[in-house]
Amino acid sequence: VKRAYHEKVINHYESPRNVGSLNKNDPNVGTGLVGAPACGDVMKLQIMVDDEGIIKDVKFKTFGCGSAIASSSFVTEHIKGLSLEQAGQVKNTEIAKELSLPPVKLHCSMLAEDAIRAAIRDYKTKRSKLTATGPIPEAQPEVAMA
Ligand code: FES
Repeated sequence: VKRAYHEKVINHYESPRNVGSLNKNDPNVGTGLVGAPACGDVMKLQIMVDDEGIIKDVKFKTFGCGSAIASSSFVTEHIKGLSLEQAGQVKNTEIAKELSLPPVKLHCSMLAEDAIRAAIRDYKTKRSKLTATGPIPEAQPEVAMA
């Protein structure tokens, strides 16, 4: 029987790392929310960044296929401890290669690349707004949706 998926994909899919959410109102947190036009799958990836610009924590939630879940799980482990600049250079082709994704699943790893970029962008926008408006406020608790 030909195995359709590499065991790394299955492993990350069955026991995804770093699933969850960070407080998006925390000034040290950047949130990236992206969708794949090809299939409608959605990925949320959040980074917590320290004052030196190093990614200290990463969480994700993916409403999507197994490869998208595996890709996001893999990148959360991969970018933890990297600088924003290093994380911004992660390519979907690296993710796909690491997980041995078949060509039809390339867009799933693209979602992870897009999510990292979006999270970094969000973090930077937030920081530039904060420095423009004065001292950095304490994190506000996230308001629960009714
Ligand atoms: Fe769309 Fe995988 S099939 S993200």
